[in-house]
Amino acid sequence: MSAKDHLVIFDTTLRDGEQSPGATMNKAEKLRIAKALEKLRVDVIEAGFAIASEGDFEAVKSIAETIKESTVCSLARAVDVDIDRAAEAIRPAERGRIHTFIATSPIHMQYKLMLSPDEVIEQAVRAVKRARSHVDDVEFSCEDAGRSELDFLCRIIEAAIDAGARTINIPDTVGYAIPEQFGETIRQIIHRVPNADKAIFSVHCHNDLGLAVSNSLAAVMNGARQVECTINGLGERAGNASLEEIVMAVRTRQDLFDVETRIDAQHIVPASRLVSTITGFPVQPNKAIVGANAFAHESGIHQDGVIKHRETYEIMRAQDVGWHTNSLVMGKHSGRNAFRTRLKELGIEFETESELNEAFSRFKALADLKHEIFDEDLQAIASDTLQSEEDARFSLVCMKVCSETGVVPRASLTLLMDGREHKVEGEGSGPVDATFRAIESLVDSGCNLQLYSVNAITSGTDAQGEVTVRLERGGRIVNGVGADTDIVIASAKAYIEALNQISRGGVRQHPQAADV
Ligand code: KIV
Ligand code: ZN
Repeated sequence: MSAKDHLVIFDTTLRDGEQSPGATMNKAEKLRIAKALEKLRVDVIEAGFAIASEGDFEAVKSIAETIKESTVCSLARAVDVDIDRAAEAIRPAERGRIHTFIATSPIHMQYKLMLSPDEVIEQAVRAVKRARSHVDDVEFSCEDAGRSELDFLCRIIEAAIDAGARTINIPDTVGYAIPEQFGETIRQIIHRVPNADKAIFSVHCHNDLGLAVSNSLAAVMNGARQVECTINGLGERAGNASLEEIVMAVRTRQDLFDVETRIDAQHIVPASRLVSTITGFPVQPNKAIVGANAFAHESGIHQDGVIKHRETYEIMRAQDVGWHTNSLVMGKHSGRNAFRTRLKELGIEFETESELNEAFSRFKALADLKHEIFDEDLQAIASDTLQSEEDARFSLVCMKVCSETGVVPRASLTLLMDGREHKVEGEGSGPVDATFRAIESLVDSGCNLQLYSVNAITSGTDAQGEVTVRLERGGRIVNGVGADTDIVIASAKAYIEALNQISRGGVRQHPQAADV
């Protein structure tokens, strides 16, 4: 048995991560991510905000039905309707948690809630008791704790613990804290709250000043035993603390930390890729742990050192976090069983045989174009297949693009819209522009293109390009992702996927909105 404390890893990719503009995920996508998180052995999965919409409720419920090894949690504002809905969504879970919160900073209490501090305490206590009437595992958060008064925090936390909260979360909601000061705040709270020994203290840091991970680690050094974080640091505005950075910092610097996590780090890179593919948020190459360059040595001096003795320039081993140097997995002659097995190893399982068949034929088509198929290719194939199985209003049948020096690029596409085929054409400043114009000549979506980006999924000129298209309409932002060895076709797929998401519509409540 280790003498070290257990650090609870609470992943909120599916809730706070989804609050990143455009990172909306559907139920099937959330379930895939939840399974990857379970494989990673995260302790708690915050599966969503059940009251936000029917879709969010269903997603939390299906995660609660499926996940066995992690606690499944739903967020709820400190009001009865939210708490009851959260309880209903997590009911099927083997281990369920309700996470309720209310703002505690003077600015939020005065301008957002329009409540006095005493009224806020009263509401918090009522909420915790109501949540406890449904489940034993209740977490209470003091929203905007980073800008709250220490005395008031201590008062409300003591009351919440008395009311039955088992985890007390101190969020730096607006990313205002500085490590030394935040660590000291946590130390003071734990020291001053008389019943602090009856709860686990948690932190939830945002990255507005680029300090989310540092602040979380400072808190751990001062007694926090749960960290709330997200894969790739996804999250509202500049994001949340990144799970992979927290976990690897604690593991790599065991000389400094009195805690251990139970994360299976080998699944970090696959989980990072999955989240990136599903949300369309690429991982920057120099991102710690999961960026393409995180373990690449460019300079001759570094390369020479690493060859002589790896630890001269490497503090972690790439393979320990799931990077495989030779991740060539399959080729043209690989069979259906090998394909299914490899997908399973990557955490991808299709619900129906027809999905598997469709993915397998995409794999065969890709293997004809590109002889080496990597894990990343398989992940893109799976995402494409699962996207196309959903209630898609639009889809691409075929397309042709002419691009020639001195001639205006032209695109002709055949599209399916509401089950009927349409032929469309367009001209533009380049082949992608011509393609988007051709699609819009039929759809006339009224969307603004906010982002268009292309990333090579693997290396080499025969690699698949993964295109992300971000569209905005009436304040709603969606991302569409498409992959193909032809980047113009990938662009068309991504644009069409974004249009499908726009057409699915749906209004969701934001958990931190004022109108409770
Ligand atoms: O940032 C925040 O304060 C939150 C809470 C709802 C925990 O996300
Ligand atoms: Zn947050």
